[in-house]
Amino acid sequence: MHALLDQPVAYDDGDIDTNPSLSLHLSELVEQRYSRRQTLTGGLSAMTGAAFGGLLLSGCGEDDASLAAADSGEVRVASGARVAARELGFAAVPKGLGDTVVVPAGHSVTVLYRLGDPIAPGVGPYANNGTDGDFSKRAGDHHDGMSYFGMSATTGAPDALGNTQGLLVMNHENITQKYLHPNGATSGTRPEGEALKEIECHGVSVVQVSKSGAAWSYQPLSPLNRRVTPNTPTQFNGPVRGDAWLRTAYSPDGTRGRGTINNCANGTMPWNTYLACEENWAGYFRRDAGDVATRAAAGAAGARQNQALIRYGAGTTRAGNYGWATVQAADPANTLFRRWNITSNAALPADGTGDFRNESFQYGWVVEIDPFDANSVPRKRTALGRMNHEGCVNGRMVAGVRPAFYMGDDAQNEYIYKFVSDVRWSAADAANRNRLAIGDKYLDRGTLYVARFDADGTGQWLPLVYGQGPLTPANGTYSFQSQADVLINTRLAADALGATPMDRPEWTAVNPANGEMYCTLTNNGSRTGARTDAANPRAYSDPQRGGGASNGNANGHIVRLREQGDTTEATAFTWDIYAFGAGADLDPANINVSGLDDTNDFSSPDGLWFSLPTNAGGQDSPIMWIQTDDGAYTDVTNCMLLAAVPGRVGDGSVRNVTASYNGNRTVASPVGAAPGTSLKRFLVGPVDCEITGITSTPDGKALFVNVQHPGDGGTVSNPSGNWPQSQNGVASGRPRSATIVVTRDDGGVVGL
Ligand code: FEO
Ligand code: CA
Ligand code: CA
Repeated sequence: MHALLDQPVAYDDGDIDTNPSLSLHLSELVEQRYSRRQTLTGGLSAMTGAAFGGLLLSGCGEDDASLAAADSGEVRVASGARVAARELGFAAVPKGLGDTVVVPAGHSVTVLYRLGDPIAPGVGPYANNGTDGDFSKRAGDHHDGMSYFGMSATTGAPDALGNTQGLLVMNHENITQKYLHPNGATSGTRPEGEALKEIECHGVSVVQVSKSGAAWSYQPLSPLNRRVTPNTPTQFNGPVRGDAWLRTAYSPDGTRGRGTINNCANGTMPWNTYLACEENWAGYFRRDAGDVATRAAAGAAGARQNQALIRYGAGTTRAGNYGWATVQAADPANTLFRRWNITSNAALPADGTGDFRNESFQYGWVVEIDPFDANSVPRKRTALGRMNHEGCVNGRMVAGVRPAFYMGDDAQNEYIYKFVSDVRWSAADAANRNRLAIGDKYLDRGTLYVARFDADGTGQWLPLVYGQGPLTPANGTYSFQSQADVLINTRLAADALGATPMDRPEWTAVNPANGEMYCTLTNNGSRTGARTDAANPRAYSDPQRGGGASNGNANGHIVRLREQGDTTEATAFTWDIYAFGAGADLDPANINVSGLDDTNDFSSPDGLWFSLPTNAGGQDSPIMWIQTDDGAYTDVTNCMLLAAVPGRVGDGSVRNVTASYNGNRTVASPVGAAPGTSLKRFLVGPVDCEITGITSTPDGKALFVNVQHPGDGGTVSNPSGNWPQSQNGVASGRPRSATIVVTRDDGGVVGL
């Protein structure tokens, strides 16, 4: 075994291209891979001669190419950091199909904050039988992206080192409708009370949590507790504020809106605000037959709106999720239900101020919330574009440098974006008490870019700037009218620029030690062998035990990039694929390309988060946490949370990956070093859940994790699971989404 494999290599945060001592010769690369492969498979005998021969051969040719590219400065290879500098300090949890949250020995799970838990005075305990109301004062459903903000126990002000008291802020992405009503939902015309309950179960929670002794609990009576729901007043900021497309009967000047919906992942701003990102908002809107013609008759702007609605998934006649627009409100002036119908009324003003034809243009944004002021009005940050926003995560904040914010657009074949502020970072702003004004400063003016991943392992950030390139009125596919138009129609603009369609970009996360950005690509059923590319190289059939198959990129992967010059301002980058999800038993050449085994195989990576640099878990070789939201490997295991100590872009080699689904095609992809024991399964969730949302106290000793839609596969009278009751051995009662806290029994940093 090569010496470099025996000894941990100190984490390298420098420019490896200029450090020849960390470069390896071709023979060493091959030797390393050979050795690692033996470790992963339990020896050479576990591999077929053909596979091994192919590996060595492909290794020779490709590494040669990589090294040549490295000499020209194009692709970074082999830093020598192939072995994690830090061993993950827990035993991997086995895959499982049980109805509890399972964590490694020596760790404990506390259920902290469940659907329906009261967060205001006068609100009773949750009956959990469908009779409860008042969800604007209770925890919402489908807990998702989440941030912890430490606070001073004495002043209630933000405290970056507040380890015993803080605000937990989380998204409530969606609902499991049937469990919210005594006997399931009423179909047809929806009763007002049922619809209000469902609407208020969406949005965001702000809830105070505290630690007493070793025990965590939430504070049901804290004055800082808050629900932001789809009914909460909001305001628009940035270039789209006041645009004609934002005008509604509620906001004739296009500056105000109501609420936020389907908030998936999140962002934690360095100035102590929370970003809630609007993902699958389009599905909630009703659009009746005839709307296409009415808009078209209104002229060129109406025709462009028809194009926009098609591109964002509302191009056809639709009833809208949950049918809220059918509600006949008791108060005729109440527009909280009919605003979910975007059908234009030809008898009302064509500018949209008489109805809600423009309501869906008010969604698809990043929303900033100040959790420390329960009366603050959330601000929709339009400069960051309009899409199926997943998370919005800042790169490293460097004084005097313009910060970047990384975002995925979660739909098949959509793109990865970054926003670079016009304003250089001033560290003093982190402590400014006028937090939303700081948000105005960094998030309202800047440049939105979309990523193009080139086959040679480099990439470009393409600016979405009106007037540049194809983003003009003369553009053939869609006639852009203004910067506001480019931002409302971010996807159309990115199409025009030739961005790379990805396998469903989900969460983004930035390694705090070196600034590299990771993005989960959860899966893509429409990726075919006819159109794979270097960044999305897999298309295959993943067999389901019991029959059927998941096709395309069935198990997802994680891409990462390193900005040119290691600066957030860069317009070019290098990239590789950190790891491919796959069952351990699948083809190691073309499916299980990262050599996963029983301790770390996973499918459909979604949530992604790095441990904080305020504790050892986020320093030197930071821990990256990966959460799954899967449907392809759930025949073998429930969804899970894994911990990784990733290397860095270029630590692997170019691999030939052959797609086999709907076309055969081989592409050469830059693939990171096989994770091996630097990736381990940390937690397995209960039946039918998604594991999502993760944050921790600054000291890393309390890890907060969300369990979304457990037990949603059954009926009201016979749920498919009973979590969280089942966590304590009670196999009855309706399941509830909930936040858990994971701690180490010895009080240490979780994961180390
Ligand atoms: Fe809400 Fe993209 O998962
Ligand atoms: Ca998600
Ligand atoms: Ca997902």
